Amino acid sequence: MIREGDLVADLGCHPGSWLQFCSRTVGPRGRVLGIDLKAPTVPRADNLVFLPADILTVTPEQIPPWARQVDVVLSDLAPNTTGVKWLDHQRSLELARKALETATWILKPGGHFLVKIFQGEEFDRFRRDLETCFRRVTLEKPRSSRSESREVYLVGLGFIDKNRIPDERQQRG
Ligand SMILES: C[S@@+](CC[C@H](N)C(=O)[O-])C[C@H]1O[C@@H](n2cnc3c(N)ncnc32)[C@H](O)[C@@H]1O
Repeated sequence: MIREGDLVADLGCHPGSWLQFCSRTVGPRGRVLGIDLKAPTVPRADNLVFLPADILTVTPEQIPPWARQVDVVLSDLAPNTTGVKWLDHQRSLELARKALETATWILKPGGHFLVKIFQGEEFDRFRRDLETCFRRVTLEKPRSSRSESREVYLVGLGFIDKNRIPDERQQRG
């Protein structure tokens, strides 16, 4: 998904292992924007920019202009879990929906999106919504994720242009 020279947004980036991976993969010609409530703990790099923010209240104006046309949006956003499956699913869904909204602001046509979500009753509807925005959507369960965990990743490949939300404020910025 990520190539040398790409611009990448990493939502829910603390403590920063994905940031480090992205920074090395995109190299000096690329750039990575990390957003989280908590600052990354990994060493700084010239191609890494951190925006401290609650993703649920982020607006397009807060995104730096260079990151308003990115190749890839990653979201590993996760709520603090309660152990109540329904509640954890709802909170994860809220974060995943906001990640998708953010992606529709900033992804280039043809760009890619990866989002973590805890499965539950509204999972299929979210997946269908994703399928209207991307040419292909796949479900991934990495080996590192515990088999009993309800966490999975949806990958949207090939962002469809007409789903990009034109934001006048963003265009003026
Ligand atoms: C599983 S961790 C991400 C790990 C990261 N991908 C890495 O490689 O180190 C999930 C992150 O989501 C962040 N998060 C949860 N809710 C958030 C919100 N509303 N706004 C911003 N970040 C949030 C948490 O602070 C946490 O750092």
